[in-house]
Amino acid sequence: MNNCRVNEHSTSSCRDSHILNLRQSRPFEYARKGRRAQSISCSRRKVKEGTLYAYRRTTSIASEYSSHVGMKAIVITKPGGPEVLELQEVPDPELKPGHVIIRIAAAGLNRADLLQNRGMHAVPPGWPPYPGLECSGTIEAVSDDVHDWKVGDQVCALLGGGGYAEKVAVPAPHLLPVPKGVSLEDAAAIPEVACTVWSTVFMTSHLSTGERFLVHGGSSGIGTFAIQIAKYNGVKVFCTAGSAEKLQRCRDLGADVTINYKEEDFVKRVKEETGGQGVNVILDNMGAVYFNRNLDALSVDGRLFIIGFQGGSTGEFKLAPIIGKRLTVQGAGLRGRSLENKSHIIQEVKTHVWPAIENGLVKPIIYKTFSLAQAAEAQQLLETSQHTGKILLKP
Ligand SMILES: NC(=O)c1ccc[n+]([C@@H]2O[C@H](COP(=O)([O-])OP(=O)(O)OC[C@H]3O[C@@H](n4cnc5c(N)ncnc54)[C@H](OP(=O)(O)O)[C@@H]3O)[C@@H](O)[C@H]2O)c1
Repeated sequence: MNNCRVNEHSTSSCRDSHILNLRQSRPFEYARKGRRAQSISCSRRKVKEGTLYAYRRTTSIASEYSSHVGMKAIVITKPGGPEVLELQEVPDPELKPGHVIIRIAAAGLNRADLLQNRGMHAVPPGWPPYPGLECSGTIEAVSDDVHDWKVGDQVCALLGGGGYAEKVAVPAPHLLPVPKGVSLEDAAAIPEVACTVWSTVFMTSHLSTGERFLVHGGSSGIGTFAIQIAKYNGVKVFCTAGSAEKLQRCRDLGADVTINYKEEDFVKRVKEETGGQGVNVILDNMGAVYFNRNLDALSVDGRLFIIGFQGGSTGEFKLAPIIGKRLTVQGAGLRGRSLENKSHIIQEVKTHVWPAIENGLVKPIIYKTFSLAQAAEAQQLLETSQHTGKILLKP
């Protein structure tokens, strides 16, 4: 305990902070060491409990032999597929200034989690190494300098990692209230899709009322949300999906033109449906394999926003339409953005998306919920792409 330097108003710093650094920068090694290490992390944190303040001293021993473990989380034991995930006992999250601790009710799965397993989606600094980019839950502790939230508040949150766990520490600006009319558990399905779709096609590509919008993978977590929020904003929605059943689900959510990408050429169909003009905005998850066709499917002044490379990131591209039709091509990832940038997106989402959800016009679409211990099974389902909408984990 003498290792800890305690500041009355902030989280302690600790000589063993290399444990945290190791955990952030080399998650696989941390996972290995965590099972047998004798490392002790110390923290003295100021915890707000209702109106009561109490100092709490915690000791977490990162060892399976210790009884001082804090919580359960899914650990990526080595790079690989879902089978490398293991439910382990790990240290409790530390309450840092500007943060709250959430006791997680549910966490949403995202395709990026599959990349993280394989060591291909880096955890941003300061976040735990466990997968999980979004969650919902109840605030269990609040840092002294956070004034907008209190213990007991039900929230959902955008995470840089750590959702596959019982608890997570989150910067307060990454929180959103659970929307009225949505259950605490279902709220876990909203932050990542809402922030991704709003920050790309609305905030950046300026998709507007009366325009035409194509989203690829209409039955995905992203797609099911994009269809609904675009319809809410008076947009004509086109989408692609790989089966008649999924296309029907997209129509149920409001899609106007649904295209089976396995049977039809989406460019030809878009041109047919728009009198040869094309769509104004495309949200693309396929990358290289669709790049040339996406440019062909866009109208004059069209905007292509790329958020995924499911079809690769390199290829031979025909760039002439970019000049010929004055096209804009953009791409972005949500996870790597700065705290300030994400906070801005979250505020915009609260202003523009939350009313649509609270009016019941945009709903979280949940396909299946698994227990935390079944994380590997849940990821296997995500990989097979049998689902429509979101898959959740429940600690
Ligand atoms: N950049 C960012 O910040 C960000 C954030 C979130 C998500 N994303 C990306 O957005 C995409 C969707 O994410 P998610 O978590 O919602 O994934 P998801 O639910 O697993 O969905 C993946 C989708 O890809 C579709 N797909 C596969 N091949 C296709 C093809 N040839 N044409 C059209 N669609 C095809 C699948 O449709 P079928 O099942 O019908 O084949 C499925 O709906 C992923 O690529 C993900 O990495 C990016």
